[in-house]
Amino acid sequence: LIVDIRAIVLEKCGGGELSDDEIRFFVRGYVDGTIAEAQAAALLAGIFARGMSERELATLTHAMLHSGSVLSFEEHPQRKADKHSTGGIGDKVSIPLAPAVAACGVCVPMISGRGLGHTGGTLDKLESIPGFKVELGEDEIHRALDRTGVAFAAQTEELVPADRKLYALRDALGLVESIPLIASSIMSKKLAEGIDALVLDVKFGSGAFLREPERGAELARAMLKLAQSMNVRACVFQTAMDRPLGNAVGHALEIGECIDCLAGEGPQDLRQLVLLFGGEMLHLAGASPSSEQGAERIADAIDSGRAMGVFELVIREQGGDPRLLKDRSLLPRASDVEPWKASAGGTLGFVDNRAVGRAVVALGGGRRAKSDAIDPAVGLVWHRHAGERVERGDVLCEIHHRGGKGLSECRSLLDAAVEIGAPHALPPLVLARLE
Ligand code: URA
Repeated sequence: LIVDIRAIVLEKCGGGELSDDEIRFFVRGYVDGTIAEAQAAALLAGIFARGMSERELATLTHAMLHSGSVLSFEEHPQRKADKHSTGGIGDKVSIPLAPAVAACGVCVPMISGRGLGHTGGTLDKLESIPGFKVELGEDEIHRALDRTGVAFAAQTEELVPADRKLYALRDALGLVESIPLIASSIMSKKLAEGIDALVLDVKFGSGAFLREPERGAELARAMLKLAQSMNVRACVFQTAMDRPLGNAVGHALEIGECIDCLAGEGPQDLRQLVLLFGGEMLHLAGASPSSEQGAERIADAIDSGRAMGVFELVIREQGGDPRLLKDRSLLPRASDVEPWKASAGGTLGFVDNRAVGRAVVALGGGRRAKSDAIDPAVGLVWHRHAGERVERGDVLCEIHHRGGKGLSECRSLLDAAVEIGAPHALPPLVLARLE
């Protein structure tokens, strides 16, 4: 069989359906370097514009999943669960969640992503912990799980290398908002983990990749089908991303907020999602009779300090310095902090939450090109929240910046993100649960 990538690109760009062989040929060739970046970019653009059938999506996901090795736990009888989100602004839930779930006896082999577009990535956030290593080999993942119950890992040359390459290329091209591209990216990573249970967090609102809840539900259904095909028990929550989650947006600042959450403190919306997802993970993995009882166990793991104890082990295991749990000055800190104030009195609203993410990218806290380094210290800390009454001159957030770099662009983006006006109803933090 002779397959030519140029014919595949033309077929998809013209709205045709690709055969299973063509999809497998593409994934194999892109990973081994025989298909060039420009050719892969053209095909991604075609998929972005034309979509994929259910069969094409299943084949793409399975080809990506098998582009490397799949974790196998034959000698590891413990139950395993994970959670993944479609990405957001200030979405740091995975970081306190994984140790809390492990503290309740369920392992979390978590393969995550880096920042994508205007959203921050779990891996980049963890790497703001000095020394923390996320590029783990399979042996290191198994050892971390044995010792701590958690492995925070990146896609590597061995593990879902297809997503490693396609994810970075989509970020550089700005080709993210596509149901088949998001579903295959998330599910290839998650299904490579050998897990029993999976909770998916599909965001909606102006900071989400798919703003409309209906499109989010379509993505949810596609991912649930893929989970079912691999016998993984899964459910989806649709949660609010029309406003930032928690107070901190920016890598090291968010790690600080995760530590607060594990100390039983910090913002309520973050804690609420950690308890909800953790309870569901315990239930789906068969470790709790109901998700409500699971959530109580997660709350207890946090409030007793056991979850923090696991996080300390995880930091140590993955090469970081656990002293930062007690001494935040060990986290990267921006040289300058300045307040951003309300220009009028009224009710605070976020009309374009995506611009909040872009404001942090402007400060250096995100990538504009594939090779960009991230400044982990910069970002925002919100003092006031959506739906609150504010007065002119109130500090809405603190901007943590590096000698003014990107500051005026950040301020303009914040102006575009926020509106102070009449009282309005906020969408619920948790809109729906699908399974
Ligand atoms: N998270 C992923 O892993 N991939 C996407 O495409 C979006 C969010």
